[in-house]
This record gives sequence, C-alpha cells and structure tokens, in this order.
Amino acid sequence: MTTRKEKIIIGNLKMNGSLDFYSSYFNDVKENLKNLNNVLIGLCVPYPYLFKAEEILKNSNIGWGSQNVAKFLSGAYTGEVSAGMLKDFLSLYVIVGHSERNTAYCESDENIADKFKIIKDQGMMPILCVGETLIEREAGIMETVVESQLKAIIERYGAKTFDDTIIAYEPIWAIGSDMAATPAQTNKMCKFIRNKINKNITNEVKNLKIIYGGSVNTKNALQLFALESVDGGLIGRASLDVSEFVSICKAATSVTKK
Ligand code: PGA
Repeated sequence: MTTRKEKIIIGNLKMNGSLDFYSSYFNDVKENLKNLNNVLIGLCVPYPYLFKAEEILKNSNIGWGSQNVAKFLSGAYTGEVSAGMLKDFLSLYVIVGHSERNTAYCESDENIADKFKIIKDQGMMPILCVGETLIEREAGIMETVVESQLKAIIERYGAKTFDDTIIAYEPIWAIGSDMAATPAQTNKMCKFIRNKINKNITNEVKNLKIIYGGSVNTKNALQLFALESVDGGLIGRASLDVSEFVSICKAATSVTKK
C-alpha cells in the first residue's frame, strides 16, 4: 500500500501511438525511471497495447492500465471492455470520467459512479477525473460543480469507497490548452475535494491520492507538485515524450518528503 507522502504520476497517453511506438516507449520509460523509487508511476494506454505494457513493464517500478472500462462485468455490450479483461493483462490503474469521454460519449455521473465501483471491486485503482468548464469557473461555481461530481459516487456507494483510490482534479479549460491552473487554484480545489470527502465520515478516507491534471509540463511540474494538497499529476501530452515524462517524474521525487 502507498503512503500519503509518496507522489504519484500517471501518464494518460490518450488515443496516441502504435505497436512500434509502445514497443520502444515502454522500454525507454522503464530504463530511464528504473532508479526512481520514491514515486509511484503509471501509464494509461489504449486497450490494444496493454499486452505490450505487461510484457515490457512487468517486474519494473511502473504500473499500467487503461483509460476507460465497461460498467458491466460481461455480456451483450458490443464494443465494451470489462474490468476482468483489463485484469487479464495485470492492469492496475483505470481512468474514469475523463472530460474528453464525458463530452464525446455523453458519460453520465451515474455511469461514472458504477464504473468507479466496479474498478475497485475488481481490485484495481480508479483514477476519477473531476473538474469544471471555463464558464463554470468564471461564474464562480467550480466548487459546486466538483462537489456534485463527487456526490454522485458518495450518494451511491458512500465516502469510504474513496479508500485506496485516486482523484484527478482536471479543470476542463486547462486540458490540452497550455494554460495550467495556478498553484493557488489547484491547492484550493484539492483541499476542497479532500474536505468534502471526509466531511461526513468519522474515519478519514485511507490512501486517497488527489492529483492535478491539465497542461502539466516540465516548467510547471515542480511548483504544482510541491503543494501540500497535491499528491501528484495526470499527464497528457507531456507523457508522450519520454524525456519530458521522465523529468516530470523526477520533479515529483524531488518534492517528496522523506
Ligand atoms: P494534457 O492532458 O496534459 O495534455 O493537458 C491531461 C489529461 O487530459 O489528462
């Protein structure tokens, strides 16, 4: 099990790459990060390359997983991939509720909650994405929006379902935009998320990592990860470049308190 002080960096490779790309990418990342041991690292890749991740990354310090999962365990759901199938390739992480999916595939909060639960029940670690649009931030309702995203899970499954999970605060306006949230905005929202989850329970959630995603790069990583409330990052574009991803992981280790 992980401890609070250990940062976690997850690469979200999105719908990029090819078999050739991943064959060298996994080897390069593994080689360059092999001595980094006070940070958790995961790579969420397209489904067809999970087998390559397993082949190359097993017995390394890097975990792998996917960017979505079906909300059912099996059956007549054409085109879907179940949690059990992900486990066949020893996947550890599953991104759920990413705004790109919510926009393009109309993912509802209820679907996201069910997926979150199924990932946990199958012994994998959900990475729940939450965040507001620019219009919502400008209207000053970003906390209400994020709270309602969390509530969809809390009301269905209870706040303790966040034990051993990851929440990525990803303001939608910051994703793929070169306009990361400021450290002050990030700190405030990450604290807000932790407080909301712990609010109505007597025992605080255990091993919940709250990370930031949205235009993290080598220039802003250190400042964002140094924040007390931020347990790491979800890295999109910058994860596609091995040297950038490696530098970002190193930034996370350099701010980890011993
Ligand atoms: P970005 O993507 O780093 O390219 O902004 C982050 C994400 O969508 O998870």
